[in-house]
Amino acid sequence: MDTMTRLSALLADCMKSLWPEAEGLPAAEELRGLLAVPPDPALGDYAFPCFRLARPLRTAPPRIAEAICAAWSHEDVAAVQPVNGYLNFFLNRVNFAAETMAALQAAGDRYGASDIGAGKTVCLDYSSINIAKRFHIGHLSTTMIGHSLKRIYDWLGYTTVGINHLGDWGTQFGKMICAYKKWGSREQVEKGGVDAMTELYVRFHSEAEKDPSLEDEGRAWFKKIEDGDPEAMEIFTWFKDVTLRDAAKVYDQLGVEFDSYAGESFYIDKMEPVIQELRDKGLLVQSEGAWVVDLSGDNMPPCLILKSDGATIYATRDITAAIYRQNTYHFDKCLYVVAYQQDLHFRQIFRVLEKMGYPWAKDCVHVSFGMVSFEGEALSTRKGNVVYLEDLLNQAVARARDIIEEKSPNLENKDEIARQVGIGAVIYTDLSANRIKDIDFHWDRALNFDGESGPYVQYTHARCCSVLRKAGNPAGAAPDWSALTDDEAQALLRLLSRFPDVIREAADKYEPSMITRAVTDIAQAYNKYYYEHRILDGEPAQTAARVALTDAARRVIRTGLWLIGIEAPERM
Ligand code: ARG
Repeated sequence: MDTMTRLSALLADCMKSLWPEAEGLPAAEELRGLLAVPPDPALGDYAFPCFRLARPLRTAPPRIAEAICAAWSHEDVAAVQPVNGYLNFFLNRVNFAAETMAALQAAGDRYGASDIGAGKTVCLDYSSINIAKRFHIGHLSTTMIGHSLKRIYDWLGYTTVGINHLGDWGTQFGKMICAYKKWGSREQVEKGGVDAMTELYVRFHSEAEKDPSLEDEGRAWFKKIEDGDPEAMEIFTWFKDVTLRDAAKVYDQLGVEFDSYAGESFYIDKMEPVIQELRDKGLLVQSEGAWVVDLSGDNMPPCLILKSDGATIYATRDITAAIYRQNTYHFDKCLYVVAYQQDLHFRQIFRVLEKMGYPWAKDCVHVSFGMVSFEGEALSTRKGNVVYLEDLLNQAVARARDIIEEKSPNLENKDEIARQVGIGAVIYTDLSANRIKDIDFHWDRALNFDGESGPYVQYTHARCCSVLRKAGNPAGAAPDWSALTDDEAQALLRLLSRFPDVIREAADKYEPSMITRAVTDIAQAYNKYYYEHRILDGEPAQTAARVALTDAARRVIRTGLWLIGIEAPERM
């Protein structure tokens, strides 16, 4: 049992014995949630606000605090002081160190893992790129937030399904085939990949301005795709393959994988029954020739289902996809990691699902996020100001390589480590702030080995590894945990002991940045410890304790980095 859990259990017992008759007192679990870490360590390791008890006990909080202090008998866990309606707990440092280290050592590499998700399934829709378009830096957030959430849920024992809901349906693909047939060649597309397809698409538009009949031809090709014409399908499928082949390079760099690539076109033959269901349930109304679901009661514009020409749209496919996912995976949660611009879209489709009578509609969540700008400039395709993710990643690796060359010229495997550090720097930046905040990417910040950055955390991990290498195999001395009672060790232990809570909170709030914060804090606390204390040259039992603490920090940093999708090299 961790210290906070024990403390709250003791607090609950103490309250029960003081006020056996009182009703509505919080249970241990709620008490645990109320325990706070005071900003100033002089106010204790944990503080408990007695205000929550005022009403059930009909007593002023300062009186309650005094009564509990007078009855508190567990000096082995914590001494307690009443201050202005707060109980300030001072942990018994040796016991706290011993308990925390026992928990860390027992869990080993799986510290913070859990089975709270056993038997539950989470679908995650992320990255979800569009066919024939290049990956730009704007796709980074959906890809990395989704990937990280998947690992977090995996770690908590959930079954996860990572879905790349490809944008692979729309009239533009008819136009592209038309352009390809007129001006393109197989070699050109094979070689040029997505860029060649984009060129064809751009050419189509400029030629269509001169010759509007091209639009009809484009539509005719799209119709052929819809009808499953073999030639159209062959080209369309090949465009998809080429796009995914290009995207795979980026996914490989980032270490991202998916369980399913069922995109929009996957749902084409599954929409009819859903549209019929909407009709049967009396939800489809006609509006200016189109069929829509009226959402005026929810203060939203109508959700378009069928255009006046009978064509389905993005929303129709998303509604169908949600139902398919529920029927196929029986998800307990379906997360859509998509930029905030699509907020209305998701509110609409979730509401439509609810109106259809699906109770699980409430388990669909739009995990939205802000924009990424680059060196202070917003990225807009219109201004031609696009940074391609592949270029950004390659540049990050090259820059990391230069820094490593300068700092550690004798390192082995410099290329491999530069890759881990460069990519890690980009991912860290992306996951460093609350996801809804806009992110401004700056090279000097991302690759600052001394600031709050991926390389800084990785470096700390490598430092722990180096200490452990120097320590060698500790010759059997049993660790003396009283060597870990100094302020720096205690601060580090406190962060390590909270780490499992942070993972659960990150999952509850869909917020990988909480893990980024936690590993950064742990890295900083370890470095502080490292500078203030001699780890290796004390008494064997003390050294054993300090080495064990180093090993615990190493494991937790490694796990934290893994949870946000960053590798942890052992040397840097
Ligand atoms: N392909 C879409 C886009 O790039 C994102 C799709 C998100 N997922 C979904 N189920 N709608 O805007």
